[in-house]
Amino acid sequence: DDGYDADDHHDPRLTDPVHRTLAGVLDAARPNTDGAVADYIPELADVDPEPIAIALASTRGSVHEAGDSRVEFTIQSASKPFVFALALDALGLDTLTRHVGLEPSGEPFNAISLEASGRPDNPMINAGAIVATSLMGGETTEQKFREIRKGLSRFAGRELELDESVYASEAATGDRNRALAYLTHAAGTLAAPVDVATDAYFRQCALVVTTRDLAVMAATLATGGINPLTRERVISADAARWTTSMMTSCGMYDASGEWLLRVGLPAKSGVGGGIVALQPEQFGVGTFSPRLDERGNSVRGVEMLTTMSERYGLHML
Ligand code: DON
Repeated sequence: DDGYDADDHHDPRLTDPVHRTLAGVLDAARPNTDGAVADYIPELADVDPEPIAIALASTRGSVHEAGDSRVEFTIQSASKPFVFALALDALGLDTLTRHVGLEPSGEPFNAISLEASGRPDNPMINAGAIVATSLMGGETTEQKFREIRKGLSRFAGRELELDESVYASEAATGDRNRALAYLTHAAGTLAAPVDVATDAYFRQCALVVTTRDLAVMAATLATGGINPLTRERVISADAARWTTSMMTSCGMYDASGEWLLRVGLPAKSGVGGGIVALQPEQFGVGTFSPRLDERGNSVRGVEMLTTMSERYGLHML
């Protein structure tokens, strides 16, 4: 329940053209029941597959929401661009690119991706994201996670909480991610012990967000690093631009090329069902619907963003 009653004539959203736009996009996708919730993390197999939401935050700080936009879910891989951005902001591009590449892998999110140099292909797939997490400040898991949580909370403009049971579930079943981390450690690109990097990464993925949070986080990239609600500078304009570039080329994994052709907005998906997307200098958008396609992208999220881009001419080209 998003707290609004559709029959209430005082609902401010009924007279808001942006809300009507979002609601129209959402209604077109609602009947689609294709795909399935992620089940390789046991705790995710139990989530309600039905919620659907879309939210848009403008770079001027207005937020518009439709559907179940206050339902909470775990951020999962949609955390990756924001952690990469924080690491970039702290360490700079030259240091980052010694540890992780900048090229699309054309492979699934959990691929064993190592260039000849021993770097993962890019920071949007798991191997590269775990390396980005390892580069966060601090020595211990607790210190690194504190930095990640603080940083992602600044992107969202509110304090984000950890879903302990999703974290425990992934930690108990995360051997593939540990294997990826061992490979990067052997290659010398992981900047922390394997258990520290993976444990901080599992917690990062289990941070709880709403669709509205994703919209505000994306809008903070769209402004060039300033949260449009709190007006706080979270990262540098360079870090925001470089992160947005990686979302453009690599954000939807092995669907990134088709996504760029059809939707034409920088984006990043997560197996919790969220997608973040943005139009630089204009807005950030978040979508949520838990059923995923075979590449791990939310079916109805992809549909909503495709419809929105086509109807309103949002493609960057
Ligand atoms: O590492 C994992 O497998 C999950 N915590 C996140 C993967 C994910 O979200 C892939 N995205 N669609």
